[in-house]
Amino acid sequence: MRILIRNQNFIFLAAFGACLGFALCGSRSSSKPASSVPSATPRVDPGVVSTLQTLLGSTQADVRASALDWISRDGRAQSSDFVSTIFMDLKDANGGVRDKALANLGWILDRYRGSPIGERAIETIQSALKQANDRDGQLVVLDLIGGTGEGGVYVNSGAGGGNAILISDPLIRNTLIALLTNSESSLRPQILTLVSGSSSLQSDPAMPAAVAAALEDDDLSVRNQAIRLLVTMYGERPPCKPLLESALESGDPNVRLQAARALGVPVPPPPPQPRLVSLTGEKVSMAAVPFDFNYFTAFVQPLFVKKYGGTACVDCHTPDSNASGSFRILAPDAGGHYTLQQSRINFVSVLAVIDRKQPLESKLLLKPLNPLTKEGAIRGMHHDGGVFWADQYDPDFEMLEDWLRGAKLEDAPAKQLDFAYFQKHVEPIFSTPGPDGFACINCHFSHAILHLESPETAQGKFSIEEVVNNYQSALRVVDEEAPSNSYIVRKPTSPREGVPGGLSHAGGVRWPQEKQSWQYHALITWIGMANLAKSSGKSSQVHASNQNLRSAGK
Ligand code: HEC
Ligand code: HEC
Repeated sequence: MRILIRNQNFIFLAAFGACLGFALCGSRSSSKPASSVPSATPRVDPGVVSTLQTLLGSTQADVRASALDWISRDGRAQSSDFVSTIFMDLKDANGGVRDKALANLGWILDRYRGSPIGERAIETIQSALKQANDRDGQLVVLDLIGGTGEGGVYVNSGAGGGNAILISDPLIRNTLIALLTNSESSLRPQILTLVSGSSSLQSDPAMPAAVAAALEDDDLSVRNQAIRLLVTMYGERPPCKPLLESALESGDPNVRLQAARALGVPVPPPPPQPRLVSLTGEKVSMAAVPFDFNYFTAFVQPLFVKKYGGTACVDCHTPDSNASGSFRILAPDAGGHYTLQQSRINFVSVLAVIDRKQPLESKLLLKPLNPLTKEGAIRGMHHDGGVFWADQYDPDFEMLEDWLRGAKLEDAPAKQLDFAYFQKHVEPIFSTPGPDGFACINCHFSHAILHLESPETAQGKFSIEEVVNNYQSALRVVDEEAPSNSYIVRKPTSPREGVPGGLSHAGGVRWPQEKQSWQYHALITWIGMANLAKSSGKSSQVHASNQNLRSAGK
């Protein structure tokens, strides 16, 4: 049997007869009646049910997950015979199986509301929503609460958007409000969307303040979503006024503008930039620093963590271990990630070892450089910590030098992915020829989106500018939320002429082994790890996407 996995949805191909295929496709366009009485059970198709029964008994987790996915979408497959299996599969060892089982609680709840089975479904949904370490599961239940399952088959609108039973459940409401208020939560975008579509959730007295809390999010698009929602809610609910008034003081100009428009007052001037205290005790405002923050977070800060023959700058230069002058930086968390706030502090702290008038004379640049080098014109300064860069042509030296010369990166820290990994494992993919002798760089040098530059030398060495360009281009075609959905892996595994509805790639399939290729694995790994895990909550997001990969890679 051949199973294709695409977009994290499981699509069956080929193995089933046309009539079963039809049963699946047919159900996608029809939607369940949105009734509030125990719903008219859709006509269950015994042929579909018996096929699914076999699949549910499979030893392969992908097969079980696909069967559950099918049942959740297809009214004709939703036989009461499956209910006990579904509850058992909620405890399956495989995360994909558990999530697809969860997705079935929607129709089960509909059919058995008021009975013990219905109660159990609600309780399960309540507790899944609270599982901060299982983001995929949380996303599944958010879909259920919103009343539209994946693929739009499970629709149960009752209370002005969303599943009436779930939305009116006080425990679920409170959890949603808590998740929205929590600055560590990575589910804010989904919850804001849910609230935008549900007048019932909007009318909860605690909701306006929870939405206002998201105005402080690190992510610009979350702040934008929150202010738009707050403005809409204000139309109906005057108590939102004080919240909009405090939004006038936001540091985000878009938030100030929208709040001012809604209140009908002039747009206030920007508040004074909050100053950060550097690790050497100076108060610095970010705006006053002439170097690029995005470039710093992507390329410079990782150098402080990089192990050079076993030691890294952070081993000696943190505020705790500091016996070494005014170069002080915070150490990252155990996973090697910095939060945005830590990055800001490091950014203003390295100024202490930068010569603003002559940046290229800075101790930050020269201390790690070899003082005795015979190559090039630049000599390092004596450094008790040792020599890290052999000469001025060391790529890490060049990276820092470039930054001090004013190099910029357009991608905001939240969008960046691990650069060291990119350089080591992804860049080589671009210059490795496929069976037809062409490499990505041979065709993509002229593209606007995935614009790739070729190495500067015949030995395949890329200049820093080229690497930075290629890194930046690659970020345009990745989907961090769903790595296997990224164009950068989907295009090179797609045929020249597309199957209907599928994707095509004018360059054809680049990796004969497709998802088994080292290229696919390297890219997926890269996209799946977040350079800036904002919190443990957000790093579980990374974990979750890696899990998808693992199941997709099979
Ligand atoms: C094994 C410990 C150790 C490591 C690792 C280390 N350093 Fe140092 N560093 C020192 C010590 C000790 C001093 C103070 C004496 C000196 O200036 O050489 C120092 C001084 C410095 C200074 C000058 C500070 C001042 O106020 O004058 C800079 C800048 C610096 N290091 C940068 C780095 C960078 C960048 C790295 C990583 C690439 C690094 N160091 C790795 C121990 C270390
Ligand atoms: C023989 C030429 C050729 C090769 C080699 C090639 N591509 Fe493409 N690729 C194209 C063309 C032409 C398009 C634009 C039309 C399309 O989207 O299919 C494209 C489109 C893309 C896109 C969509 C974004 C864009 O820039 O248009 C991605 C992503 C992509 N290719 C990735 C890759 C990767 C990764 C490799 C190497 C593993 C690769 N391609 C190798 C010709 C090629």
